[in-house]
This record gives sequence, structure tokens and C-alpha cells, in this order.
Amino acid sequence: DAATPLQFPIPANVFAEKVVSVKHYTDRLFSFRITRPQSLRFRSGEFVMIGLPNAEKPVYRAYSVASPAWDEELEFFSIKVPDGPLTQHLQKIQPGDTILMRHKATGTLVLDALTPAKRLFMISTGTGIAPFASLLRDPDTYEKFEHVYLTHTCRDVAELAYGQELVAALAEDPLIGEFTNGRVTLYNSTTRETSERMGRITALVGSGKFYTDLGIEPLNPETDRIMICGSMHMLKDVKEMAESLGFVEGSLSAPATFVVERAFVG
Ligand code: A2P
Repeated sequence: DAATPLQFPIPANVFAEKVVSVKHYTDRLFSFRITRPQSLRFRSGEFVMIGLPNAEKPVYRAYSVASPAWDEELEFFSIKVPDGPLTQHLQKIQPGDTILMRHKATGTLVLDALTPAKRLFMISTGTGIAPFASLLRDPDTYEKFEHVYLTHTCRDVAELAYGQELVAALAEDPLIGEFTNGRVTLYNSTTRETSERMGRITALVGSGKFYTDLGIEPLNPETDRIMICGSMHMLKDVKEMAESLGFVEGSLSAPATFVVERAFVG
């Protein structure tokens, strides 16, 4: 590729994939799609380690796969950190560029780590929406749960666009549209830019506004499951909130009523 010459050989034991498309949402957020290695297996909601072939020892960062397990491409949703070891370069990728990816996918935000229930609440901030973009496009989610509530809180209105487009596209999706019909509710808020609904999700749930806005019964471990993805502080606070409501953290070896994954930046 003339635009981005590979100055370093591709390391052994990693996939070398091609960028298919890039979409910039704001000066802080962008999404991109890459080719999918034939042999990659993952569960919707898991993450992979990705890097760029721009150093002898490439920097790898964990990225939740935002596309569902059945998709023939891989999608990611990323922050742009001006001096981030990976994202300062990653934010400049163009179609045709090479992305490195380690072979193994893993993670805790998977359906099998939750016991069955009626309602699934996906609580996200910023790029933490990525694993839910995968799960929302997976038919298994709708086989397991009757209704899915996706909350997405960002600093600014423009940062909400990725999730709004995602949910709007579900209904028209030829593969998933029939499952999602009327069964997904998006709940947005901003914390820094003035918008129709403001506040952190912890505050909105805490005050009860979340329930009155949606006209739903309060969170209840008898009927509900929670998945949480966002920054370190957000995870800590939402996890505490879930535990205070009687939810218990689950894993693949011991499925229970909520799961947590940190959103990865760098
Ligand atoms: P705030 O603007 O009040 O910090 P970021 O882009 O920094 O990851 O933040 C994404 C969103 O997550 C912001 O709206 C931010 O609100 C919110 N947030 C940050 N910390 C927490 C927390 N501890 N609990 C809930 N939401 C949080």
C-alpha cells in the first residue's frame, strides 16, 4: 500500500487484516471495519487485541468487537487520544491499511455469563457501547431476553450518534430485524453538553427518573440482568449500584445476574 508503507515485517502469530472503511463521529470518536480472519472465532461481546505494523514491537490494545459473531467483517468503535500510544496512529487509518490482531478473543460481557431472565439492561458510556453493538446484532440475545434496554451516556450530543445509528439500523437489518422489532429501547443522556436528557446513568437510575422516563418497573434481580461497559470510574459506580440492588456478578464458570467489562482506551 503506497499510502502506508510497511516499514516493519508482520510479527509471527498475529493476523494481518485490511481496513475496509472508517467513519469519524467527532474529534474524539471514530469507528472502523476490517476484514475478518477466516479462523477467528469469538462470542458476541468479547474483545481482541489490535495494533499497527508501525514498530518492531507493535503496541496492542484491547478492543471490543462491535460487530456480531456472524458478520464477515469486524467493526470497532474507538476513542482518539492525541498522545495515546496506539490511537494517535490508529485514528489516521485509511481503507487498505493493515491492522494487526492477536489470535485470541476473550471477555466477560457474554450472554453465557448471565442466567436467563426477562429484561436485559446494557449500561454504557462513551466507547463502552461497542460490545453491546455486537450483542444487539446477535439473534441469541433475543432468544434469551424478551426486551433489551441500552443506555448510552456521553459528554456531548454528537457522541451519541453511533448508538443512535446502530439502534435505528436494527429494524432494517435483514438478518436481525425480525427479532428486534419493538424489543430494543435506547436511553441516551449527556453530561456536559445541554440536551433533552442530562445526567450520569447512576444519577438517573438513583433518582428514579430512568424508570419514569421509560415507564418501566425498577431494576430487579428476579426479572433482570445487567451488562456494564465504560470507563474505570463508571464501572466501579455502576457495579456498586447493581450490587446495592441485589445483583450478583457472573462469569462463564458461574453465571449470575450481572457482568462488567472495562472499556479500553490508549
Ligand atoms: P461526566 O461528563 O460527568 O464525567 P468519558 O468520555 O470520560 O469516558 O465519559 C463518558 C461518559 O461517562 C460521560 O458522560 C461521563 O460523565 C460519564 N461518566 C464518567 N464517570 C462516570 C461514573 N463514575 N459513573 C457514571 N458515569 C460516568
